[in-house]
Amino acid sequence: MKILLTGSAGFIGFHTAKMLLERGDTVVGFDNFNQYYDPKLKDARNEILEGYDNFQVIRGDLKDTNALKSAFEKIGGGEDTRVCHLAAQAGVRHSIENPDEFIQDNIQGTNNIFELCKEYDVGGVTYASSSSIYGDNEESPFKEDHKADSPMSLYGMTKKCNELQAYTYHSLHGVKSTGLRFFTVYGPYGRPDMALFLFANWITKGEPMQIFGEGKMQRDFTYVEDIAAGIVAALDKNYDYEVFNLGGGQTEELMAYVSTLEKALGKEGQKEMLPMQPGDVVSTSADISKAQKMLGYDPKTHIAEGIPKFVEWYKEYYSI
Ligand SMILES: NC(=O)c1ccc[n+]([C@@H]2O[C@H](COP(=O)([O-])OP(=O)(O)OC[C@H]3O[C@@H](n4cnc5c(N)ncnc54)[C@H](O)[C@@H]3O)[C@@H](O)[C@H]2O)c1
Repeated sequence: MKILLTGSAGFIGFHTAKMLLERGDTVVGFDNFNQYYDPKLKDARNEILEGYDNFQVIRGDLKDTNALKSAFEKIGGGEDTRVCHLAAQAGVRHSIENPDEFIQDNIQGTNNIFELCKEYDVGGVTYASSSSIYGDNEESPFKEDHKADSPMSLYGMTKKCNELQAYTYHSLHGVKSTGLRFFTVYGPYGRPDMALFLFANWITKGEPMQIFGEGKMQRDFTYVEDIAAGIVAALDKNYDYEVFNLGGGQTEELMAYVSTLEKALGKEGQKEMLPMQPGDVVSTSADISKAQKMLGYDPKTHIAEGIPKFVEWYKEYYSI
């Protein structure tokens, strides 16, 4: 297949592109390498991808339709083409301070993607949604048919909007799409703004760890290679219009995540317990039975195995 993969220099995009390149697909990456977090990490991921002959990258912005068109030109259209749309402005907390960025990048940017998928007659789109769309849903574990129309953050709102955009482009123009609701993804080459990375930084520097929600939060943590395998399966199946939860399949206490990290780093951190932050939810838990059945999704990596893999990468990357 020929795949246009947006967000290729990002955490999940990098792992997904690598998996697709290793099995021989052609991948055109698209990313604006923005400065939301250390761009050196994006360059490092991109450098690895550029080591594959079947990869090329376009540095451009989702809001720039001319740059996007040049990327679509490279894959053309038809049955064997896909768009894997992972680029977005992420981060629940960042969305509270910077609403415009989220509206422009996530809503306008995604509309540009769907519009060009229609224009170029692309075979199908797989795009990133998020567990955040479940907002204050009180039924647990979260199932795809649960109410998901009261997001607690502006970020969650933009992801819900993407699912609605996908629905409209499918019903109006026949654009095939699969939305994937990711649940707290972690692993090597991870995102420095996310808890695991922040905790690792604080522990290694001997600084107090800020633990929100008084440590009582629970998350369905998902190892990045399990997520990438789920994305690849969605690209292959290419359903007409679906959304799936992609979670780790087990809900963990935040403090169990912290102690597994401390064990892997061989160092205990000082803990500063803080109240919940606006926009956060107490617990996320994914019912993944639909993805198991329809995508053959099979997350294998428990935090006891995944966190040490992250730590191994972290120590090597930062020469600790
Ligand atoms: N990591 C998670 O736990 C998680 C959970 C739920 C959903 N998601 C979603 O998965 C996707 C990938 O997330 P990630 O964790 O890899 O984040 P990331 O920030 O590492 O990757 C996103 C990439 O998109 C690029 N980008 C952002 N805005 C752009 C724009 N306007 N034009 C071009 N490129 C742009 C960034 O430079 C970055 O490299 C996102 O859509 C995110 O919302 C992630």
